[in-house]
Order: sequence, then C-alpha cells, then structure tokens
Amino acid sequence: MDKVLIFDTTLRDGEQAAGAGLSVQDKLQIAQQLEKLGVDVIEAGFPLSSLGDFDAVQTIAERIKNSVVCALAHANPDAIDKAWEAVKKAKCPRIHVFLSASDIHLLYQLKKSRDEILQISRDMVARAKKYTGDVEFSPMDATRTDRSYIYQILEAVIKAGATTVNIPDTVGYAVPQEYGDLITDIFNNVPNIDKAVVSVHCHNDLGLAVANSLEAIRRGARQVECTINGIGERAGNASMEEIVMAIKTRNDAYCLDTNIDTTQIYKSSRLVSELTGFIVQPNKAIIGANAFRHQSGIHQDGVIKKAITYEIMDPKTVGIPASSLVLGKLSGRHAFKDRLAELGFMLEGDSFNHAFLAFKELADKKREVTDRDIESLVKEELRTTSEVYHLDHIEVSCGDHSIPTATVRLIGPDGKSVADAALGTGPVDAVYEAINRIVRVSNKLTEFTVKSVTEGIDAIGEVLIRIESDGVTYTGRGADTDIIVASAKAYMNALNRLLAAEKARKE
Ligand code: KIV
Ligand code: ZN
Repeated sequence: MDKVLIFDTTLRDGEQAAGAGLSVQDKLQIAQQLEKLGVDVIEAGFPLSSLGDFDAVQTIAERIKNSVVCALAHANPDAIDKAWEAVKKAKCPRIHVFLSASDIHLLYQLKKSRDEILQISRDMVARAKKYTGDVEFSPMDATRTDRSYIYQILEAVIKAGATTVNIPDTVGYAVPQEYGDLITDIFNNVPNIDKAVVSVHCHNDLGLAVANSLEAIRRGARQVECTINGIGERAGNASMEEIVMAIKTRNDAYCLDTNIDTTQIYKSSRLVSELTGFIVQPNKAIIGANAFRHQSGIHQDGVIKKAITYEIMDPKTVGIPASSLVLGKLSGRHAFKDRLAELGFMLEGDSFNHAFLAFKELADKKREVTDRDIESLVKEELRTTSEVYHLDHIEVSCGDHSIPTATVRLIGPDGKSVADAALGTGPVDAVYEAINRIVRVSNKLTEFTVKSVTEGIDAIGEVLIRIESDGVTYTGRGADTDIIVASAKAYMNALNRLLAAEKARKE
C-alpha cells in the first residue's frame, strides 16, 4: 500500500499560533513524543526568526534519530545558512525554503517581479542543496497563484535540487475540488514532477484544511503537513489526528497508509495542549473529551450491545485508556502503578512516591479518582521536578468584609525557605503579590483561566496562566482541589519557566 508521509509542523507553524509560548525544553519534549508517534518529518522551527528557535532546532536535531528534522528558512542566504547551522547535526536533516509566489504577495508585499522571484527560488534551493540532499521548497500562497507560474517555479526548483515541493494554501482559501484539481494539474504540467514528493500544507480559515489535504492525497500528494490538535497561525493548520484517522478508518476509500503509531495520538494531543495551554474543545474529532462519549439513551443502548452500532473507531486505537477499574482510597501502590503505565507514564523513585502520596491525599477527598485526575496529578508532579523556587506553604484569608491577605513560604534555589505576606484585591492577587515579594522578576499577568478536570464539587481545579516579561510569554499550569493553591502553583510554574529561560539565555 502507498504511504503518505506525515510532516508535523506543530513546533513551527503550530507555535506561530498567538500565545503558544513554548520553551526549548517544551519543544524538545514535544519532538520526542512526535518521534514516538512515528511522524516522518518534524519541522522544528525557523532558526533565523529568534535565538530561541535556533536553540530549539539545534537541540532537537541533536536528539531525534528516527524522524527527519527540518528547519525552515525564507529564500535568503542568511536564513538558509542559519537553518543549516541549526539542523546540521540531525541524523536526517532537511532545509525547507519558502518564498511567496502569488501576484498579490509580489505586488503588495515583496515588490518584486515574477522573473525575480523565479530566479531567487532557484538560487536559494541550490544554496540549500549544497548543505543537504533533502531540500523542500514552498511557493507561498500557491492557491492564489497563477497556475502556469506555479508550474514554472516547481520545474525550476526541482531542477535546482528540491526533493519535496509543497503546495501551501497559506490563507486557507481553497475548497476541496479546486485544491484537488491544482494537485492533478501539477502532476500533468510539471515535466520533472516525478523527481520530487508532492506535499500539501493547508490552513483552516474556512474550516477546510483537513478536507483539502485529504482531497490532495486522493489526487497523488504523498506528504501532508499538519499539526497536533490542528493548532497554528490564525484558525490553525490541518489537524494531524483527523488526517491520520481518516486514512486509517476509511482505508477502503483512500487505500493508503501512514507510519503513525495511532495509539500515541491521545498522549501527543494532551502533551501539546498542556504545554501550549490551548485547551482542546470537547467536540473535537478524535481527541475531544466527548469524541467517544454517548449521551443519548438509544446510542448508549446500541454501544452496550455492540460498539460498532455507534462507534466507527475503537478509542483504544487512538490511545484513549480504557479504564476497567476505578481507583479509590483503598487502592494500593500496585494498582496506581499499573494505571500510570496504562496512561503512558513511567514514574520511578521519588517522583513515583510523590505522585502516590498526592493520589492518596486526593482519594481521601474524592470518592472516585478518575484517569483525568491521575493525569492531572502526574503532570503536576512532573512540573515540579525542575523548579528553581518551590511552593512550600500557602495560607489565605478573605471574605466579603475583609482585605484579602496571603502568606506564602517558598524553598529557594539555595534550599532555604523564605516566607512573606501581602494584601491584594482578591485572594489570588494577594498570593501573587506575596510570591512577587520573594521572587523578584518583573512580569505582567496576561491570561488566567480555571477549569475543573472532572464534574462534581470535589473535582481538581486546573489553572492556566500566561505572564509576559520582556516581550516573551510564559505559560504556567497548576492543579489542586483548592483553586487558590492551584493558582499559586500555576504562577510558580510560569515564574520557574521564566527564570530557567533567563538562565539559559545568560549561559
Ligand atoms: O502557510 C504557509 O504558506 C507556510 C509556509 C512557510 C509553508 O507556513
Ligand atoms: Zn502555514
């Protein structure tokens, strides 16, 4: 069966989504999960765009062994040299060169003629080719570009050494039939097209990114560019999990295959959501909380009798854990460890002991501890393993006739505990002020959200915050049954990320 290559751009186009704010460590963690997931290509970043992106691409290039690591560069000598500098240690490095091709972009943005763009495209692919055999070229805004000009560019860049040619629907303007026709026409009109893989890259401005990508592979495209959870610039990119599961579930329609280990999809989705702070909508296909939930009585009756009545996919194939047992306060270390393994977490030593204690504490407060609770606990544990400051104690007093007051005690980088207190406009503000009196780094809180992990008054509350410092956004998360404590943990998490980034910059 023909294979469709999965090119994941979560770390590049996905990270271009407003407010994503991933650190180098976050990106490495996601890249390692993408490798486990089996993506063929990881687009790790755009090295010329920032020092952070350069570092991330370099770090990922050094660690990833089973996927191609790709660095993006616009068609400019410095960008290409920088991309190579960042990606050269990868086992399989790729440089992805892009340049606008539509008259709209040429006229209003680049102010260059078609001939000039053609020449630059050719020259820059040749420059990248001197560094590596694996070169991709994208004529940006291809779906609003004159067809005959696209053919000309593609023929020229393939001659110059491009081994993959990508057809971006940069502004999400195409509709499936038209985009499919473009791909067919490219196969019929570019004489040397058999020397390159045809790739597609669709944005979701009209909600058609997945439909357009699927139509393109039906017409012969063999690489799809996509992101986990569909995150990306504006309305996002084509969602990886939807494309992969459509190809798998409707194998009869596509007769194609991918190298993806679909059982890693759920974990990848949760990780990207956790680190970017972008919550997955409940009705999101494949990985939303409601994707496999049956509410209506008729549907429930059918699924109990035979799942196939209302389920076209087995949730296990996307890695959604099937919980046979509910954990509670009588559950022991073994049961907890087994459930962790089922959920894909391997905690050992102190990390396991801390997580088990947190589980016992929660089980005392809650009758039933669900998988989502356990996931939340473990993530809280993992967040605190590399802290500069650790939240040791917190006390708050507030009410409708009192001034909110908070006392906090933190363990500092030298291992000593420091306590301070502050007043605030509300309990969370008072806690943040008290923390600020100890950890003195200037920052502005730009986002604060609270949600409960499960239903019920005893649920764990998860707090997501974003802070900004020197123009950089840092995300923080915290989880606890007490939302003031969760808020404090989220703030400490964001501050610790900020401090780690500052330390890395200085080094
Ligand atoms: O959407 C786009 O055109 C891009 C290119 C850089 C491929 O992201
Ligand atoms: Zn894009």
